[in-house]
Amino acid sequence: MLKIAFAEPKLPASGIYAVAASADRTLSPEAIELDKKLGGALRRAMNVSRFTGKRDEILSVPAPLGAGISRVVLYGAGKAEELSDLRLQGIGAALVAHLNHNGDGEAAVSVGRLGGATGTAAQRAVELAFGAVLRSYRFDKYKTREKPEKKPTLKKLTVMVTGASAAQRSFMTREKVAEGVFLTRDVVSEPPNVIFPASLAEHARGLTKLGCEVEVLGVKEMKKLGMGALLGVGQGSANESQVAAIYWHGDPKGRDRKPIAFCGKGVTFDTGGVSLKPAAGMEDMKWDMAGAGTVIGLMKALAGRRARVNAVGVVGLVENMPSGTAQRPSDIVTSMSGQTIEVLNTDAEGRLVLADVLWYTQDRFKPRFMVDLATLTGAVVIALGHEHAGLYSNNDELAEKLIAAGAGTGELLWRMPLAEAYDQEIDSDAADVKNISGGRAGGSIVAAQFLQRFVNNTPWAHLDIAGMAWSKKDHGAVPKGATAFGVRLLDRLVADNYESS
Ligand code: BES
Ligand code: MN
Ligand code: ZN
Repeated sequence: MLKIAFAEPKLPASGIYAVAASADRTLSPEAIELDKKLGGALRRAMNVSRFTGKRDEILSVPAPLGAGISRVVLYGAGKAEELSDLRLQGIGAALVAHLNHNGDGEAAVSVGRLGGATGTAAQRAVELAFGAVLRSYRFDKYKTREKPEKKPTLKKLTVMVTGASAAQRSFMTREKVAEGVFLTRDVVSEPPNVIFPASLAEHARGLTKLGCEVEVLGVKEMKKLGMGALLGVGQGSANESQVAAIYWHGDPKGRDRKPIAFCGKGVTFDTGGVSLKPAAGMEDMKWDMAGAGTVIGLMKALAGRRARVNAVGVVGLVENMPSGTAQRPSDIVTSMSGQTIEVLNTDAEGRLVLADVLWYTQDRFKPRFMVDLATLTGAVVIALGHEHAGLYSNNDELAEKLIAAGAGTGELLWRMPLAEAYDQEIDSDAADVKNISGGRAGGSIVAAQFLQRFVNNTPWAHLDIAGMAWSKKDHGAVPKGATAFGVRLLDRLVADNYESS
């Protein structure tokens, strides 16, 4: 992880120094001071370039010999009055991208007197540093022949700010959140020959080091519990299905206080099963465990920062394969809830996994609410693209809190409807419910209706993250690849609403 240090503002004696300019070629006070020392070099560089101080713009200015520092990086902070926490994260991210691209190993950045923003300078420094760390992630462990000039170089970023020790302290919790995000990105990026149900369960087990209690169920235990829906999905795979429950007792008012619960779809590879997917693009289905990966990363963040809450994360881990032992379209399975399910399409498997995970979670933990995350449907990508995850909920208060936490972290949610009329679409002729409707209409909604039949009136929200879990492009603090969408959002949901004082 990129090393972050905070220091009281002063002109560095050497190295690279990043200072701000805001919209319309306005130099920040620090930049003006520096410009004087450099004989007007910054203003001149700005005036002869297209750099105007718009946000995310960067202008690199070599310092003259004898200046001490080697280079000034002018970064655009945009309009002062629009400088939000998320924009500051974006600035940190843009700086990291630039410095890595340039082959720089270390740099200092000033955030001192950026005008217009709310909060203290120290808080702004923390946001910038958080964006920088998040952007520094890269999954490259299998690239053994990469040319050195292609490798990222930045090792350390020093953030110059008045109140450096306050910033340092408050950044410690952010670093824990970043560690959760990185764990999620790691497990989601790993190939499916490395991440399969048992190996992903090991990552959950690893959280015992942070003080979590972790319980893993294998096929034997799940059979006893009657988890026929989840087990049906995994029965075609040579890799044994697992459920992992990760418990964090952080509520100072007692470990007996009802927990909040997070559930994740963990299909470590989704071939579609006997309802086989086409070959083109099937590789994407290695990240069909992103919901589970996010729950594991979230629990790492909560435990890492010692969140004052009781929380449980439950992940259903299976591999959906076609084989001689695989379930067939038209099989009828009995879920843990007792409801029978007619499996008409083995590719609608995530909802079968979650049916048992959601039922188990409410039955076993009696949570205050449950939020599930799942790369559940292609249909949600058609509806919302890659900008919002679909949010479904039986509880307006929970839905509103989730939307607010999403807006605060830039992980956006869009609420979608649930209604009796959609629910009727999954009534089965042969069993209590069927796992697909007759057509493609409202595919993401129908899937959510299916899940709702297994929540037993517990306050619940479902996030369909199929369009958000993976990104083909760099996006501010989120480099391309596994996004860990949901870790920051749910960490914020907890921090803003559910921690004991
Ligand atoms: N894992 C997929 C959904 C998905 C698609 C996630 C694209 C990410 C990107 C899910 O298991 C699935 O196959 N859903 C089917 C449901 C259909 C058979 C009713 C789908 O969306 O096509
Ligand atoms: Mn599927
Ligand atoms: Zn799937």
